[in-house]
Amino acid sequence: MRYGYFDDEAREYVVDTPLTPFPWINYLGNKDFFGLVSNTAGGYAFYKDAKFRRLTRYRYNNVPMDNGGRYYYINDNDTIWNPGFKPTQTELDSYECRHGLSYSRFISEKNGLSSNLLCFIPQDYWGEVHLLKLKNETDKPKTVKLFSFMEWCLWNAEDDMANFQRNFSTGEVEVEGSAIYHKTEYKERRDHFAFFSSNRKIDGFDTDRETFIGMHNGFHNPQVVKAGKATNSEAHGWSPIASHYIEVELAPGQEEEFVFILGYVENEADNKWESKGVINKEKALAMQEQFNTPGKVMAAFDELKDYWTGLLDNIQIDSDEEPLNRMVNIWNQYQCMVTFNMSRSASFFESGIGRGMGFRDSNQDLIGFVHQIPEKAKERILDIAATQFEDGGCYHQYQPLTKKGNHALGGDFNDDPLWLILSVTEYIKETGDFSILDEQVPFDNDESKAQSLLHHLKVSFYHVVNNLGPHNLPLIGRADWNDCLNLNCFSTDPNESFQTTGNKKGKTAESLMIAGLFVVYGKEYVELCNRIGNTEEAAAAQAEVANMETAIKEHGWDGDWYLRAYDYYGKKVGSNENEEGKIFIESQGWCSMAGVGLEEGMVEKALDSVKERLDTPYGIVLNNPAFTKYVIEYGEISTYPPGYKENAGIFCHNNPWVIIGETMIGRGDQAWDYFKKICPAYLEDISELHKVEPYVYCQMIAGKDAFKPGEGKNSWLSGTAAWNFYTITQYILGIRTSYDGLEIDPCIPSDWKGFKVKRKYRGANYHIEVVNPNKVSKGVKTISVNGQVLDNNIIPVQSSGDYQVVVTMG
Ligand code: BGC
Ligand code: NOJ
Repeated sequence: MRYGYFDDEAREYVVDTPLTPFPWINYLGNKDFFGLVSNTAGGYAFYKDAKFRRLTRYRYNNVPMDNGGRYYYINDNDTIWNPGFKPTQTELDSYECRHGLSYSRFISEKNGLSSNLLCFIPQDYWGEVHLLKLKNETDKPKTVKLFSFMEWCLWNAEDDMANFQRNFSTGEVEVEGSAIYHKTEYKERRDHFAFFSSNRKIDGFDTDRETFIGMHNGFHNPQVVKAGKATNSEAHGWSPIASHYIEVELAPGQEEEFVFILGYVENEADNKWESKGVINKEKALAMQEQFNTPGKVMAAFDELKDYWTGLLDNIQIDSDEEPLNRMVNIWNQYQCMVTFNMSRSASFFESGIGRGMGFRDSNQDLIGFVHQIPEKAKERILDIAATQFEDGGCYHQYQPLTKKGNHALGGDFNDDPLWLILSVTEYIKETGDFSILDEQVPFDNDESKAQSLLHHLKVSFYHVVNNLGPHNLPLIGRADWNDCLNLNCFSTDPNESFQTTGNKKGKTAESLMIAGLFVVYGKEYVELCNRIGNTEEAAAAQAEVANMETAIKEHGWDGDWYLRAYDYYGKKVGSNENEEGKIFIESQGWCSMAGVGLEEGMVEKALDSVKERLDTPYGIVLNNPAFTKYVIEYGEISTYPPGYKENAGIFCHNNPWVIIGETMIGRGDQAWDYFKKICPAYLEDISELHKVEPYVYCQMIAGKDAFKPGEGKNSWLSGTAAWNFYTITQYILGIRTSYDGLEIDPCIPSDWKGFKVKRKYRGANYHIEVVNPNKVSKGVKTISVNGQVLDNNIIPVQSSGDYQVVVTMG
């Protein structure tokens, strides 16, 4: 069952019922100021940091779901409704929510009054702009009473939910003209405030929640809206809100437009006040003037659309698969930019108060957006690398506001450092910018300890070499990519965090996933050293990579697949000998990608075992059989009920590793089958089961052991977005960046006739047409560039201009 449709021309997903199986959300903002918005106008806004600079309040996991948002109430002759359906839930005569690229639009109608609400954040603007149009579609005049509504969050979103003994006494507001100002804590340590303004003269306002809603009412029936008149209440403590009241007469056919702005302002510490207790509003007024007419708003909206056209234009494909085209051309690229902005902080599954930027997460996210915003990718790499330690280890996370490593969480996730080699080499392959290697980057944010980025890569590589266990395989530390395989945790205390507890010393438990990862990125490090003429270092590193390959073959092979790990006692994890958790996806993916034992048939065997034991109709599960009891020496993985999350859920992030493995041995049909199973646009028809948005990837789909296999959770903020984009473009369609140019190496289903790709790359435009006359999955027979046949499958870097490329497979 569907709950809407893709409008590819407009680059929108059109939700056509408010009753989706879960809030289907979107993101507003591309820099500094952000908003989350659901298909019923729920969500919240923040400046830079969803924890420390939250502007509006949101109630998580509430009843009904999705409470708090940008609510406009319309009282039309005592019928009260909202353009986004919630919170009144008054049945609408028509409803549409159009989620677009960094904007959302709600188009609805009730009793002959139509409403069109557009929400977005203009480029380089610290505020959310709403353009609301109301039109009388009847042949009789209408008197419409319009009430806006926002509830302020008292800035620190965590404290806001917990510290009521203080918070109920601190709230302060100011009202001037048509703007309501939120200034809680402004007179003490905060140099920032927020406002909610209207471009129209208002007929009243409310700023006190209890007065507006009523102590015993809810968002769905605020007493002021029912009464049809604002009270001009002024909040003192309790819960400050912002509501404008505007009464408007609409002649038959008449339309009126209203602009509302939710803005954020920072003032210099010595320039905060206009007079005693009165905020200096100079910047706020300038912001309000910037968008005080619908014309100005629409000009900014056009600018936003152009911005997205520019970003997406870097890769556009044309295949016979419509859902694939819309994923690659629009939604997957869009999601990659959202993960760039949000990391894992704020979604409808991530509260915005928990996590900072993950070292491994942010490095992996980069492979999904480096082609769109290479300069920002560079900045991101340097920020991440600055949180590394001199021995190559690193903080597991850092805070976006301070860019400093998170002490409370610490480090010792031993896969972390290797992901830096991935991001840096992918950045160079995209841009050709080797100079990034010479950038001086601090360790632990201490400038006095700065070294070149190249040196950071070296210590990343040797961090593995210097931390090998009894089988010469990498020690896992707290955990590797699988945060829940906590082999040194041994926790019996429910108050302990699996992520940070280490009751054992950690000198025995080893990871085959890190081993495979090391071979892949170790080889990348070797190649990079060779490229820059550092052949001695390359040879030394190559010897370490070879040692690792030997160790994997000797101690990491279980007969039909790669082992997953050795536990604290030196016992095998992910072996046929185990009762549960006999086989895991991560080591099959990485050791296959690394080609360990390729000639001996190990890769093929391992991938066959994945197919046999882990594949399901909804994707590949993480492990099998699922754990049914808590295994203290494995940690959090065995705490999840079977089929969920890291315990045999379909963890979408790691499916592409297997897919890449399949492409490396040329099995295009299998690769595509796996790709399609988790690709959201292909799941649109089973939305009632999948539950989350059909336009973005989710982190997890319930596995075969779960109560409801196929049900998705944790949409939006997941490394899944980047890995799937990378996999489809570089390994299935096979347009791969390399140091020397674009390497062409598709691995597609054998029945495909071909496909086209437009790719901007290092200043030139490539119009690539791949034809597959002999119906093969892999193998390039000829490539011509502007009619000239190449002698290998790498298109050398060209000067700017347009190039016609014809690739014949066979
Ligand atoms: C989740 C992981 C996550 C970790 C750290 C665990 O509970 O299952 O997916 O990486 O927490 O936040
Ligand atoms: C989500 C975390 O953000 C990521 O770092 C981790 O690799 C996966 N969960 C798997 O545990």
